[in-house]
Amino acid sequence: MKHEHPKSPFHDHEHAVEFDRRAAKSGIRAELEKKLIDMLALKGEELVLDLATGTGRFARPVAEHITGGRVIGIDQALAMLRVGHEHEDTVPGYRQVAGEAEALPFKGDTFDRAFVSFSLHHFGRPALVAREILRVLKSGGQFVILDPVLDAPRDSLDRRLEERVNQVFRRTD
Ligand SMILES: C[S@@+](CC[C@H](N)C(=O)[O-])C[C@H]1O[C@@H](n2cnc3c(N)ncnc32)[C@H](O)[C@@H]1O
Repeated sequence: MKHEHPKSPFHDHEHAVEFDRRAAKSGIRAELEKKLIDMLALKGEELVLDLATGTGRFARPVAEHITGGRVIGIDQALAMLRVGHEHEDTVPGYRQVAGEAEALPFKGDTFDRAFVSFSLHHFGRPALVAREILRVLKSGGQFVILDPVLDAPRDSLDRRLEERVNQVFRRTD
């Protein structure tokens, strides 16, 4: 498959290690992890897709709630997958796949659930990703997105705040 994306920082091993280290300490991630698990409403037998799984920081706790199914995490950055693969905190129900969210290497009607965390804003063609998710989800399947959303700025203070938030994202991502 043709890779059209320029190499993002996530392809760099040092960056992947640093990302994983910060993610481990993040309080907001711990809160969102609980919310994600609630929203996925798992019974335990589901096949779940984690798009842009990174180092698997959300996928592993989700996999702990699955006894008969599994979580498949896909990501384009081998460095992130490697850091996740070498994790001391391994979970049997979590598998990684290298690939692009825009061209998922799965048959249609495969997954019961799909989720994407902190990654939608990275996708160059989010509408294409959405189409792929619809294709691979079974009828009645559910898709959960965790992504920061800011209200449209109303004044100069909002605009400065938005610029600051973007700076933080550029630095941490
Ligand atoms: C900020 S990280 C989030 C990782 C993980 N979801 C988490 O919350 O810990 C963004 C991830 O999106 C991945 N990514 C970005 N664009 C992608 C694409 N088109 N297909 C697959 N993975 C992608 C990056 O390689 C990176 O691992």
